[in-house]
Amino acid sequence: MRRLLLLFSTVLFGLSATAKETYLYIEKFTDFEIGHSFKVYDVKGTEIKSATATVQYAPGSTANKCLFVKTGTTPGYVELDIPDGLTGTKVTKSYDRIYMQLRYESGNTAAKGTNLKVLYGSTESFSGASGLNEAGKFVGQNYTTKSVSSFKKTVRIGLEAKNAEYYIDNVRYVNVYGYDINDETQTARYWADKLGKNIGCCISPNQISGSGRSVETFYKNFNMLVGENAMKMDATEPGNNSFNFSQGDQIVNFAKAHNMKVRGHTLCWHSQIPGWIGESNSGSNPKGWTKKQLMDILKNHITKTVQHYAFNVVEWDVVNETLSDGQSGNGYNLRDNSIWVKVIGREFIDSAFVWARRAADAVGDYNVKLYLNDYNVDSWNGGKTKAMYNLAVEMKKKGIPIDGIGMQTHTNIGYDLAGVETAVRKFQEAGLNCIFTEIDVKASNTASGLKTQAQKYEGIAEFVCKYDISPTMVVWGIDDNHSWIDDHETSVPLMFDPDMHAKQAYLSVVDMFKKYAEAAEAAAEVDDIEFDEDGLQKVEEKVDVYTLTGQKMASGIDRSEVDALPSGLYIVGGRKVYVK
Ligand code: XIL
Repeated sequence: MRRLLLLFSTVLFGLSATAKETYLYIEKFTDFEIGHSFKVYDVKGTEIKSATATVQYAPGSTANKCLFVKTGTTPGYVELDIPDGLTGTKVTKSYDRIYMQLRYESGNTAAKGTNLKVLYGSTESFSGASGLNEAGKFVGQNYTTKSVSSFKKTVRIGLEAKNAEYYIDNVRYVNVYGYDINDETQTARYWADKLGKNIGCCISPNQISGSGRSVETFYKNFNMLVGENAMKMDATEPGNNSFNFSQGDQIVNFAKAHNMKVRGHTLCWHSQIPGWIGESNSGSNPKGWTKKQLMDILKNHITKTVQHYAFNVVEWDVVNETLSDGQSGNGYNLRDNSIWVKVIGREFIDSAFVWARRAADAVGDYNVKLYLNDYNVDSWNGGKTKAMYNLAVEMKKKGIPIDGIGMQTHTNIGYDLAGVETAVRKFQEAGLNCIFTEIDVKASNTASGLKTQAQKYEGIAEFVCKYDISPTMVVWGIDDNHSWIDDHETSVPLMFDPDMHAKQAYLSVVDMFKKYAEAAEAAAEVDDIEFDEDGLQKVEEKVDVYTLTGQKMASGIDRSEVDALPSGLYIVGGRKVYVK
C-alpha cells in the first residue's frame, strides 16, 4: 500500500441558499504517491490487466493529483475503497448523489459523451450522466445513487468508454438534504426525546400515505403531530351531534405506528365551525340559538371529542383565538366576531375548560393538558401577551383547570426573543405552562433571511430546552410548500424546503436540543446522588453549580448560597434549580 497518509472520512460542509450539503470524499488522490496504480475491472467484476489507472498530476498542474485512466477494448472501472465505517448499503441510504470531476483531452475523444457508470460488485450497477463534451477541462458529473441491497466495501466507477484516456478527481458522496435522516443522532426528535420534550409538526391525512422522503421527514424528525384541520369542529361534528373522527383517527394511528404523541387542535374556535351552528368568523347567530342551547352544543362537542381521543391526545387547545387584536395590556378584551363570545359571553371559556377536564377525568385520562391558545401573544412587550396573561391568571385563580397557554408563533424575522423569554418567565411565575404551538417564521429566501430565521427557531428551541413549563414546540407545516402562509414566492417560513432539504432553521434546532441533552447527561454524571445508611438522600452541604449548558458557575459553595445567584436556572447537585 503506497498511500502516504491514511485519511478517510473527510466530511466537508458547503452552504447553498436553502440547504446545507454534506460531502463525504471517497477519493481526492492527494494521499497517494505519483504512479500508484489502482485495479481496473470490467462490468462483471473481472480484472482487466491491460487497462491502467495511475495517480498523476492533473494536466498542467503539479499542485493537484488525480487519477489517469486508460482503457483497452472493453470499458474498465476503477475500484475505490468506500471510506472507513461505511458500506455500500449504508452510503446509498445516507447519500443521494455521487459526484466526481472528469476530464478528457482533445487528442483522445473516446471518452467524449460516454456514460458514467457506478458499480457495487458485479450485480448492482447504475448508469449515470453523460455529457462530458468539452475537452481540456474537468467537468463535474453528478449521479443519483439508488439503494444497494448488499454489503459492499468498495465502489467501482468509470466511463463506459473503450480505448479511452481520461482523468478522474474529487470523487465524493453528496448528501443534498443537509443531514442524514437515517442517523437518528442528526435529528431533532432524538435529542428532544432525550430531554423529554415535544418537537411537533402539523399534518393533514393526505400527507400520511406513501413511504417516500416526505413521510419519513415527519416521523424521523418529529415526535409529535397535530392535525392541521382534522380535529377542528367543522371536521369532527359536521351535523348536530353527528360526529366524524375519521381524519383525526388517521393521524392518531400514524402517530401510534411511529411512537409519536398527538396534540389536539382545537375544541372551541370562532373559525372553521360547521354550518349548522352558524358562520365562521362572525358574531352573528343565523340559526337563533339561545345561550343555553349553544352551551349544550359546546359541552356535547367537547365531551364527546375529548373522550373519543382520551389517552391518544396529550394536549388540547381547548379555546383558540378568543382575544381580540389591539389590547392595551390592562385586563383583556374578547373578539367580537365569534358566536361563542357573542351568544354565550365570557363564561364559555371557563366552561369549556371545565367540560374538557371533566370529560377526560371521567374516563381516567388525568394527564391530558388543557391550553388556551392564541396568536401574537409571545413578547411581553405586546399588549395582547399581557391580555393573555391576565385572562389565564384570572382563570387559574378561580380554579378553572387550565394547564397553560399556547403561543401560536406565526411570526417573522423580527420575532422579539428577549420579550418572549420575559413572557415565558411571567407564565412560569404564575404556575402556567407556556408552549409554542404553530410556529412559522416568515423570511425571504436569501442567505441573510434564512440565517435570521434560523436564529429565531433556535431561540424558541432554547426556551423549550431551558424551561420545564415549556414542553412543546410545534411547527405549522412540514416544508415551505405546505404552509398556510400563501406568499410562497416571497416567504419561506418553515424548517424544510419543498424538496425536504433541511434548512438552517432545522439544523439549528437540532444543535440546540443536542446541546442541552448532552449538558444534562454530563451534569447527571457529575453529581451522582448519594444515600446514607437509612436510605435517605444525603444532602451535600457543599455543592457545585452549573449553567444549563454545562458551564461551571461555582464550586463547593454552601447550598444556602445558591439563592444569592442571579435569577435563572441552574444545575445544583445534579438537579435543576430555579433561582428567582
Ligand atoms: C389554518 C390551516 O393551516 C389552514 O389549512 C386552514 O385553511 C385555516 O387554518 N391559527 C390556527 C390554525 O389556530 O388552526 C390555523 O390553521 C392557522 C392560524
